[in-house]
Amino acid sequence: MAQDQNSKQNLTEKKPCLSGRGVTKVFGIGKQAMTAVDHVDFDFNEGEIISIVGESGSGKTTLSKMLLGLISVTEGTIEYQGKPRDISSAAKKKEYWKNIQPIFQDPFSSYNIFYKIDAVLDDCLRMRGKGNASEEEKIALKTEACSFVNLKYAELTNKYPFELSGGQMQRLMIARIFLLKPKILMADEPTSMIDACSRATILDMLLKLRDEINMTVIFITHDIGLAYYISDKVYIMEHGKFVESGTAEECIIHPKSPYTKRLISDVPKIYEKWDLDTVVNE
Ligand SMILES: Nc1ncnc2c1ncn2[C@@H]1O[C@H](COP(=O)(O)OP(=O)(O)O)[C@@H](O)[C@H]1O
Ligand SMILES: [Mg+2]
Repeated sequence: MAQDQNSKQNLTEKKPCLSGRGVTKVFGIGKQAMTAVDHVDFDFNEGEIISIVGESGSGKTTLSKMLLGLISVTEGTIEYQGKPRDISSAAKKKEYWKNIQPIFQDPFSSYNIFYKIDAVLDDCLRMRGKGNASEEEKIALKTEACSFVNLKYAELTNKYPFELSGGQMQRLMIARIFLLKPKILMADEPTSMIDACSRATILDMLLKLRDEINMTVIFITHDIGLAYYISDKVYIMEHGKFVESGTAEECIIHPKSPYTKRLISDVPKIYEKWDLDTVVNE
């Protein structure tokens, strides 16, 4: 799968979407100073699926918050579509946020609990400049977005997000992305809340969406197996630094850094045959 995606990527010319040089985040000052992200360089291209992989505390979420423009960058530069990213005013930030959208770890925290689902989707339409579209057009767009993720708009329209199951909520988040059509999707451990079966469905939906709108998808995960399955490019993060980066093939099948090798060896080998005799005897 990762190989197919790479060969497809190579056929088209790569346009830079988000790049960083020496990007650093230091929390606190003086003796309390803590470097969470330490001079990282990266080049994410249009339409690529990129995974940032590392153990808990390695700086993944801090980096994603800098990329989203939610926290300041202590040092270094970020370029968006080949130009220095400018989010110096509220208006510029708002414009940038039309292009980069997050999916959070916990779908429950992503919705205003007082908003019915219809209002959540209407908000997306407003953000896409469709706020004044006719009622028929709005309903058609919302119905299309819901059916893209196998949800029935007619059954959801009057419900509140907390009336949905975890899996339905995750799918609603993808329906939002379908409506917003951002250039970049930032997914911080997006599948951690759901079972393996819906997880595969969600991932397939995100891949389908990437193909449909040529979105750049940045996956933040501690799961190197998942990264191999979905990514064109992988960045391995340890103590705030990228210790290895390259195609999924280069990084995960032919890893060079001891840290990457350790992450790979931690993946349970589900294909190994169970020795039932030892299980019974223990
Ligand atoms: N707001 C903050 N203030 C101080 N330290 C922080 C803050 N946010 C994160 N950190 C620290 O930065 C390091 C990286 O955290 P984080 O980016 O959340 O890692 P990850 O997402 O890989 O688990 C951790 O040691 C964490 O305690
Ligand atoms: Mg995190």
